[in-house]
Amino acid sequence: MLYGLRTFYCPSGSGQTGRMADQYAQSGEAVRPADVAAMPAIPAIRWDEPPEGPVLVLLDQTRLPAEETELVCTDPPALVQAIRTLAVRGAPLLGIAGAYGVALAAARGFDVDEAADALAGARPTAVNLAYGARRAQAAYRQAVAGGADERQAAEAVLAAARALHKEDAVASARMAVHGLTLLDELMPGGGHRILTHCNTGALVSGGEGTAFAVALAAHREGRLRRLWVDETRPLLQGARLTAYEAARTGMPYTLLTDNAAGSLFAAGEVDAVLIGADRIAADGSVANKVGSYPLAVLARYHHVPFIVVAPVTTVDPDTPDGAAIEVEQRAGHEVTEVTVPFVPVTGAEVGGGISVAPLGTQAYNPAFDVTPPELVTAVVTEEGVVSPVTTEGLAELCARSRQVTIS
Ligand code: MRU
Repeated sequence: MLYGLRTFYCPSGSGQTGRMADQYAQSGEAVRPADVAAMPAIPAIRWDEPPEGPVLVLLDQTRLPAEETELVCTDPPALVQAIRTLAVRGAPLLGIAGAYGVALAAARGFDVDEAADALAGARPTAVNLAYGARRAQAAYRQAVAGGADERQAAEAVLAAARALHKEDAVASARMAVHGLTLLDELMPGGGHRILTHCNTGALVSGGEGTAFAVALAAHREGRLRRLWVDETRPLLQGARLTAYEAARTGMPYTLLTDNAAGSLFAAGEVDAVLIGADRIAADGSVANKVGSYPLAVLARYHHVPFIVVAPVTTVDPDTPDGAAIEVEQRAGHEVTEVTVPFVPVTGAEVGGGISVAPLGTQAYNPAFDVTPPELVTAVVTEEGVVSPVTTEGLAELCARSRQVTIS
């Protein structure tokens, strides 16, 4: 398939970039795993400094796979809009975007606290978004408290965003190693047939992703027989994005409708489920893309491991349990209409898509669901694997991570 680059201007943005840049190019020392070098990088996000001033450049995920289109954000409101419309999405990448958004605010003379609040609250479930925005805000405040002028404080916050970007790439590579080791332990002999949901690859990460990175590692080692890709209604992150990434990386993959998963399990075609997470509560409850919980139930019934892959930054010790996780409710038109990437919208209907339900139909559209810890076989992080998934196990992992970060 041939992909062309176009540049799209955010409503409140300006500035232009004309090339697909390497997402690692702006982030200091190389953190890309050696064997990725041969594969074309997907620049999900990058900081750029054209003559008109600093900008945040996003690969517009709403237009994939039809087009690789860059979205240039020159101010925090444009980025908030990009986050809400899912032009940029997925927990780890939202954290990185949040941090760069605060850097953009500082560099462009916006009120940094106001920007951090707006970015942190743009979507409620993925804890990484608030984590990234607040971490960058803290770097700014620390610089100011230390006597930095505006330019120096802006540099400090940009350095914090780049550090988070780089850390996420490292975490991704480490999760892939831990995850593949776990798969090989659970299913010696390889030939893994993995079912995944939503999109968890390089499009959501500073590196190669979370769950997808594990499947990709298995593929590179010759141990992936098939990646089963749930289409992930209503916004089709599986069909549009995971299939796009699987095709680019040469993985053997098959797309299925979400409701075909049951018969796939019944046919004995699934060896493991691998998903990411938007927030993991202290008790191990996992919020992830709606449709994850039914897969966990199916996996338990069919005695198939259900594995969650996420960086430690997705574990939220301040959210005690699943009931305390705020699940984002999205607009009903995402369910009552279908939209096709890059088909021009008329604007005549609510969401600009093609209606598939009678006019006025009410829709139930939670973006996420919550899987209780007892249905999760293991949580794989960059710090190691927790199995069984317990409050104590997760707390120990987080403590280990904090030690690493502080030292
Ligand atoms: O609504 P989205 O597309 O942002 O949802 C993304 C997911 O649910 C992913 O599975 C999750 O963020 C994990 S990605 C590492």
